[in-house]
Amino acid sequence: MTKDFNRPKAIAIASHKGGTHKTTMAINVAAKLAQAGNRVLLVDLDDQTNAMDHLLQRMPDELTKPPKTMTHILASSEEERAAVTAKAITKTPWPNLYLIGADTNTSSEAARIQSRSFMAYAELGKALANIKSTSDDPEGFDVVIFDCPPNLDILTTGAIHYSTHVIIPLLSGSKYALDGMFSMLSHIRAVSKVNSGTKCLGCVISGWLDNRKAHTRVYRDVRDVASSFEIDLPLLKHKIPLAASVEVATSEGKTIFDVTSEQEPINIEYSLLCGSISRELGLKHKVTTKGFK
Ligand SMILES: Nc1ncnc2c1ncn2[C@@H]1O[C@H](COP(=O)(O)OP(=O)(O)OP(=O)(O)O)[C@@H](O)[C@H]1O
Ligand SMILES: [Mg+2]
Repeated sequence: MTKDFNRPKAIAIASHKGGTHKTTMAINVAAKLAQAGNRVLLVDLDDQTNAMDHLLQRMPDELTKPPKTMTHILASSEEERAAVTAKAITKTPWPNLYLIGADTNTSSEAARIQSRSFMAYAELGKALANIKSTSDDPEGFDVVIFDCPPNLDILTTGAIHYSTHVIIPLLSGSKYALDGMFSMLSHIRAVSKVNSGTKCLGCVISGWLDNRKAHTRVYRDVRDVASSFEIDLPLLKHKIPLAASVEVATSEGKTIFDVTSEQEPINIEYSLLCGSISRELGLKHKVTTKGFK
């Protein structure tokens, strides 16, 4: 099966591990790609609703909870779906950056679909069939970014199946992060076989501390495991540093680009990462990072 031409590019930010900086990466990558001029849709697939709460924190009170979420899109009939999807697409405080939120029932709705569908992982793609690319519809999107829950259940698998690209954030220095990477990469490979359009961009190390033995060792091990899968690792050169400014951004409902200067390492590294992503995806508006390094 190949991707529909009228779909936007899509990135699943996925890891079965909890706390590997998935949501932080999804928010900041989405924000930077939007700032470059791309129309970006961030889809929160996690019942914890961290991405949604973060992006809508600074909206007026009545707009902090969207009237419809991914749960309603999944539950809707084919006839209702376009209208439900239109209601679920929510503006954020940033130009070009839109959101489909989650709620506490999103995973149970997905589980309900799983129990009645033979190819349950394809249901997410069907549910999002009304999301068009900007080449077909100026109100469409250049890129969809999925913030996946910390497991390999139906929503993560559905996001990988729908997406043109997958990124695995890996917590720097954590031996445990490595332990499940083999199964993560096997899972992505299995889904990609069903859907030949999905490309794994590999891992991005986050929480990097320079000159720490454990970090360097894990980094080397990641490289070895991933290359044994013969996947390119175009993003492994980017090491997102550990930075206190991430918590500042979270507590204020901002991005790291709002709370740091262009000279700060986390700002530089996220910008460079987004430059690579925009080139890998062939986005219309590239993130330029001239002069950084
Ligand atoms: N580069 C960073 N430096 C320091 N702290 C960070 C960094 N990136 C993320 N964090 C913090 O780490 C914690 C976990 O991040 P996040 O919520 O993005 O992980 P997650 O993988 O989405 O978690 P979950 O599996 O629960 O969905 C948060 O408190 C976040 O603010
Ligand atoms: Mg998360």
